[in-house]
Amino acid sequence: MDYRSPQCVIDLAERICMDGNFGYGVCPSGLYEVVQSRTLSLYDWSINQNWLTWLPGMVCGLNVTCRVFENEASQVITNTPVYPPFLSAPGNFGIVSTRIPMVLKNNRFTIDFDNLNNLATQKGDLFMLCHPHNPVGANFSREELLQLEEYILDRELFICSDEIHCDLILDAGLKHIPFASLSEQIADRTITLMAPSKTFNLPGFGCSFAVISNSSLRRRFKSAMKGIVPDPPAMGFRLAEEAYRNGEEWRERLLIYLRCNRNFAFNKISKMEGLLPYSPQATYLLWIDARGLNVDCPHSFFEDAGVGLSDGSDFGAPGFLRLNLGCTRDVLEVAISRMRSAVAGL
Ligand SMILES: Cc1ncc(COP(=O)(O)O)c(C=O)c1O
Repeated sequence: MDYRSPQCVIDLAERICMDGNFGYGVCPSGLYEVVQSRTLSLYDWSINQNWLTWLPGMVCGLNVTCRVFENEASQVITNTPVYPPFLSAPGNFGIVSTRIPMVLKNNRFTIDFDNLNNLATQKGDLFMLCHPHNPVGANFSREELLQLEEYILDRELFICSDEIHCDLILDAGLKHIPFASLSEQIADRTITLMAPSKTFNLPGFGCSFAVISNSSLRRRFKSAMKGIVPDPPAMGFRLAEEAYRNGEEWRERLLIYLRCNRNFAFNKISKMEGLLPYSPQATYLLWIDARGLNVDCPHSFFEDAGVGLSDGSDFGAPGFLRLNLGCTRDVLEVAISRMRSAVAGL
């Protein structure tokens, strides 16, 4: 996002810089406490503090997860389109990535259970879920999650649920449901990844965490990190705690701003011939089907017009584009107007 982090976070960063001590640090007990109380108050998910493992990044968490399963999984299953590291992480550990394209239901992308049910799996295979989903912005419902839970349990798979966007539910009335909160049995098979980084625009301070209730799975996760993955930096820990503790009002204002940006961009792009946007329920990302433009590469077409969109090919969906709505309204208006002119000139 382009926004300044909450003022309380900036103030703390300034105080830390003025102290001038940039040595190592351990996770403050207050961060454990606030993560625990926040998952309960926001998501009705009761976790123990010892289920937490700190990570310097979520992509790192996705790769550590694949490393845990390198000798056990015959494949890593994921829904496409999806955030590119979901597609590359399995191959980093010699595991096949199986892509199951999502399907459209009522103009919203969802998991294709018919296709999943036809897939041959082995005990110990891994499913990687992006929830809420980058790039399609789906906030999976309890029914969808329960169906996936049944699938995972029936086939004795494991699942990694990347919930980095969980604090960014745009529609009032919708709630994020952590996948592992569905039942103890499924929690036993789940590695949940979370972070304050997307929510409060803090990714540069590298502080994320895994929540793993199954002690043997947690041990395996920590062992896969050993000697390779460092702790988050001391400043990252402290800023994460500050954001979670005192950034709530800022987050509420952020959601209003993002919702307005989403509605504005969705309405404008819907009117452009050849473009089909899908309104996200969560995240600050707008997924657009640009195949109707009939240009060779929609990504370069708009880049030539001065608009930098993410290329759907990187997400496993050529012909699609992803627009980042986490910018100021001024920037968004310029982008939309350049897109409109480019499309009109075709
Ligand atoms: C679903 C998802 N996971 C992970 C990340 C990246 O996390 P990190 O910067 O902590 O590696 C992103 C960033 O866009 C994301 O959308």
